[in-house]
Amino acid sequence: MKSTSHWQSARIAALRDVTPTVREFIITPAHGAAERWAPGAHLMVRLNVGGRLLTRSYSLVGLPEDAAGYRIAVKCLMDGHGGSRAMWQLAVGDSMEVSTPQNHFPLAWLAPATLLVAGGIGITPMVSMAQALVKRGLPVTLLYAARTSSELAFAEPLRALLGDALVTCASDCGEVLDLSGAIDALPAGAQVYVCGPAGLLDAVRQRWLAAGRQLPSLRFETFGSGGQLPTAGFEVSVPRHQTELHVAPGQSLIEVLEAAGIEVMNDCRRGECGLCTLDVLALDGEIDHRDVFLSADEKQQNKRICACVSRVVGRITLDTAWREEALS
Ligand code: FES
Repeated sequence: MKSTSHWQSARIAALRDVTPTVREFIITPAHGAAERWAPGAHLMVRLNVGGRLLTRSYSLVGLPEDAAGYRIAVKCLMDGHGGSRAMWQLAVGDSMEVSTPQNHFPLAWLAPATLLVAGGIGITPMVSMAQALVKRGLPVTLLYAARTSSELAFAEPLRALLGDALVTCASDCGEVLDLSGAIDALPAGAQVYVCGPAGLLDAVRQRWLAAGRQLPSLRFETFGSGGQLPTAGFEVSVPRHQTELHVAPGQSLIEVLEAAGIEVMNDCRRGECGLCTLDVLALDGEIDHRDVFLSADEKQQNKRICACVSRVVGRITLDTAWREEALS
């Protein structure tokens, strides 16, 4: 599942803050029109930040006919890897490279009902999904949680679109989503789509299975979790390349390997596809697995690590050989 994106030059046509921490970008290709996309699609953005090339994926917000370009929304994460901070420093007219739209999170149109569950900035793909389902007259419910009510991005247009089928909750008010209630209300054959932190996905998955639902009817996209351990710098040894590297708190393992000229297969860069997993040869410390690709058992064994999102406290020795199964 290696990405087949084509890269193109683009510029920022418009900016708008939709909440104090979420900024919307309208991006237009330098040549030609934006390609059409289906609900659930994302755009990859490539930025040069202080000589470092950063690649980030952002879900496309809304339907292609809503804006004269690609519409994404970026949450500013002060403790992130620097991608969102770099995006927030951009102004209208600034250039960047963008991919053509990709979609690993497509809607299944034949389901008798659809439940959308979003956490925080995970609302972004749900906007187009909700719009498209309503447009086709298909039953949809959207559960949307954020830390505070002021962080509920796009809540107003979604309320206008969905009415009571939109259920929001703000954790700082002690509110929690009634996941079990929403799942129990679904007819047989319904689908659920989840986008949010790994913890939200785990909660939905647990209740979905407890309700006797089929796992293939649960589809998800995550943006990784903050991890179980504090984000700190760590050391990496790569004997195959006779290289010793340091991953700073603001960098990801894959970025540091790539900057050292070590190629790592990748696609989603958010811990879902597993393409970037590397074999662990030795570990002096702990791995903070922040992906949703490896199973709980695999995470406990610490024999593999997803280089795009997971981190280490201490030192790790890796083999970066491309694996046969990743190429098939
Ligand atoms: S690139 Fe997909 S899990 Fe790392």
